[in-house]
Amino acid sequence: MSDVVQIAFEDGLAILTINRPDKLNALNREVLETLHKRLDEATEKKVHAAIITGAGKAFVAGADIAEMKDLSPADAQAFAELGHSVGEKLETTAYPVIAAINGFALGGGCELSLACDFAFASTKARLGQPEVKLGVIPGFGGTQRLLRRVGVAMARELVYTGRMIHADEALRIGLVNAVVEPDALMDHARSVAAEIAQMGPLAIKSCKELFIAGADRNLREANQLEAEAFGRCFLTKDQKEGMSAFVEKRAPNFTGE
Ligand code: COA
Repeated sequence: MSDVVQIAFEDGLAILTINRPDKLNALNREVLETLHKRLDEATEKKVHAAIITGAGKAFVAGADIAEMKDLSPADAQAFAELGHSVGEKLETTAYPVIAAINGFALGGGCELSLACDFAFASTKARLGQPEVKLGVIPGFGGTQRLLRRVGVAMARELVYTGRMIHADEALRIGLVNAVVEPDALMDHARSVAAEIAQMGPLAIKSCKELFIAGADRNLREANQLEAEAFGRCFLTKDQKEGMSAFVEKRAPNFTGE
């Protein structure tokens, strides 16, 4: 398989590295299609969490402008739909996906990180949605996920100006959860992923589903979904194990059943 997205498995985690450093990891069709396959591989391996990062000085500097330049309207829409399908896959994997933003996360790169469960940034990260500078709009979910993450007024300012922001501002507005030194970024992401890996995997999967499903519903409906999902936890061995372990004052041994 193409190595434009590399995958490594370690301690129940998948580390995905977008690997077109000479083009600042710009997202072309090949990268997007390979990302799909890599996320499926991680699903098959039943990982507890995944981390996405970029090779070289960028996380992802956007969708591939050279590849997009001469697209017809129909092909441009199909390209946006491919980007959306990756975003939807990131939101529906059974395991959390953490973006480790090592450098530029612009356009499709910022959108990719927004489709992940959450993101950490290195002090070198620069984030933004510069599409309007190119006469287009964010096409991989930027107008929608950005407003849900940082609020509508901040999303409007970022999208209308196309401005690139530093990691500390991204932290202040809630675009990333933490900012760490470049050398510490992957260790930080790994340690949080390892913390998640200790938990009941079916419970994590269910929480992830509820975060997504609840976002489009009113509070009453969303809470009803939560109550139903809470009930379903009691069908699982993980619930029996987790609660028995607490009562017996021992560490749980979750099997994901
Ligand atoms: N699509 C395609 N190629 C891209 C790219 C993109 N989104 N972003 C960077 N590249 C390529 C450059 O064309 C260049 O290729 P080349 O060496 O063959 O000429 C290479 O990556 C390095 O980029 P360069 O611009 O020389 O690096 P820089 O450090 O001077 O600038 C950026 C970095 C991120 C500021 C600049 O590359 C940039 O503005 N990129 C586009 C960002 C953008 O608009 N993204 C949204 C796209 S919808």
